[in-house]
Amino acid sequence: MERAPTAGEPSESTPYVLVLNGPNLNLLGTREPTIYGRETLADIVARLEAMAGGAKPPLQIRHVQSNHEGALVDAIQELGPASIGIIINPAAFTHYSIALRDALAAVGVATIEVHLSNIHAREEFRHHSVVAPVAIGQIAGFGGAGYLLALRYLIERRDRAVESRV
Ligand code: DQA
Repeated sequence: MERAPTAGEPSESTPYVLVLNGPNLNLLGTREPTIYGRETLADIVARLEAMAGGAKPPLQIRHVQSNHEGALVDAIQELGPASIGIIINPAAFTHYSIALRDALAAVGVATIEVHLSNIHAREEFRHHSVVAPVAIGQIAGFGGAGYLLALRYLIERRDRAVESRV
């Protein structure tokens, strides 16, 4: 039998941030380390979970990495609406996936676009994001720390929303 969560422990009803990572980001750590660094995706998710768990009140992280566009669209549709925000690194899909952009626009949840590398300082084809117009903002060039900056913003945004209700 499953043990009921005790006070302060994350449960099914704990609010969550949806973190999405697109194609090839499962290879972080070994993939072009001079561009993307040595940190693995598991390292980044662990850092996000630590920050989310330490927030008052705590948040959960729901993480989905997929190399498939449709799987990311499904995750946005299924997990997006109930989330307090979405942090997405669409990877190569950034530059051409109208399907991802439309899914994000459809759920209308606060979305932050993150890139490990500074896409604006790289090849021309990486400069354009079809996702950026439906995001609150974009963070690029800070490696794994970019995800934490995004989460920090979403926590502050959540806290502001709570304060304005009291
Ligand atoms: C990336 C940048 C994209 O151009 C690239 O296709 C990626 C990773 C980044 O995090 O820097 O796969 O999104």
